[in-house]
Amino acid sequence: MKTMIIGTGSYAPDRVVTNEDLAGIVETSDEWISTRTGIRERRISLGQGTTAMAAEAARRAMEDAGVGPEEIDLIVVGTATADHCFPSAACEVQGILGADRAVGYDISAACSGFIFALNTADSFIRSGVYRTGLVIGADNLSKLVDWSDRSTCVLFGDGAGAVVVRGCEEQETGSGVIRTEIGSDGRKASVLTCRSRTMGNFLTGTKPEIGYISMEGQEVFKFAVKKVPECIEQLLSNTGTKMEEIKYLVLHQANFRICESIARRLKVSMDKIPMNIECYGNTSGATIPVLLDELNRDGRLSSGDKVILAGFGAGLTWGASLIQWQ
Ligand code: UT7
Repeated sequence: MKTMIIGTGSYAPDRVVTNEDLAGIVETSDEWISTRTGIRERRISLGQGTTAMAAEAARRAMEDAGVGPEEIDLIVVGTATADHCFPSAACEVQGILGADRAVGYDISAACSGFIFALNTADSFIRSGVYRTGLVIGADNLSKLVDWSDRSTCVLFGDGAGAVVVRGCEEQETGSGVIRTEIGSDGRKASVLTCRSRTMGNFLTGTKPEIGYISMEGQEVFKFAVKKVPECIEQLLSNTGTKMEEIKYLVLHQANFRICESIARRLKVSMDKIPMNIECYGNTSGATIPVLLDELNRDGRLSSGDKVILAGFGAGLTWGASLIQWQ
């Protein structure tokens, strides 16, 4: 059994926040943000949560695939920002879509969440446990940002992307998810964190605390430009694939300069690396499926194209998936 991606969808809130808008609240400039990151604007939710964005991206992916809610067996959401500690975003999405036969749960791997979620769905489908699944990457990081911290607040945006995956007999097609590599390194956990909000505890005398995103930017940068190329090379070697066969590297959109460095290390031209960070910023688990949806909808993907999706993020986590477009 092979896992095919049979539909894509994405959603971002309407409200655009430009670099100039941020220069009005912290000491920064369009020049600093755009030259250091490639970001010009991002979409910020005005109260719409992760579940609502994820459900809309999923609805669009199902429409693209021509799949109804009764056909969905599995919903996996890669998110670090579920609206509630419980229930999961996936269960809430299930309720909104009316996918009554499905089972749903979230996966926490921050910006690598979509790749981890895809790997989970692919494993179930390959082994014949489920036939049709929704894999969603959705995040609402604007609610975790300290809007007075210029080193992080300029980087992030909100959004969601989704794919519908379906199991097909191997002999029916050469297309689908070929292989995924994922990894984590907990020794580096402290370089990118967001503490849970706590209410305090009367026994220990602890006070309520609010957690914000905290990041050692250069450490994350160094990790990304080393680990992502290594992971992609491992994926190519494990599948006997040459880089020349790859049409696109769909990379996590965290920083234009990170993508350029990855391209240099892999000795590929930026033509192979589509970007949309200028419009959305870093939407965490959503960046990869949102970009994949754009490529699909504007006709940049043709049958037989080989594409690598690759992400990295808090954990630290990383992952890359080789797919052949149907
Ligand atoms: O999804 C994964 C999550 N995160 C990432 O992938 C982020 C990875 N890291 C990065 O993308 C980059 O490290 C950043 C974009 C976060 C920062 O860029 P940098 O080139 O590493 O800058 P820096 O942290 O070394 O800061 C350079 C200067 C500092 O000033 P001084 O000490 O040189 O006077 C900062 O205080 O830029 C200052 N700075 C700013 N200035 C204007 C930091 N943020 C800002 C800002 N506007 N928004």
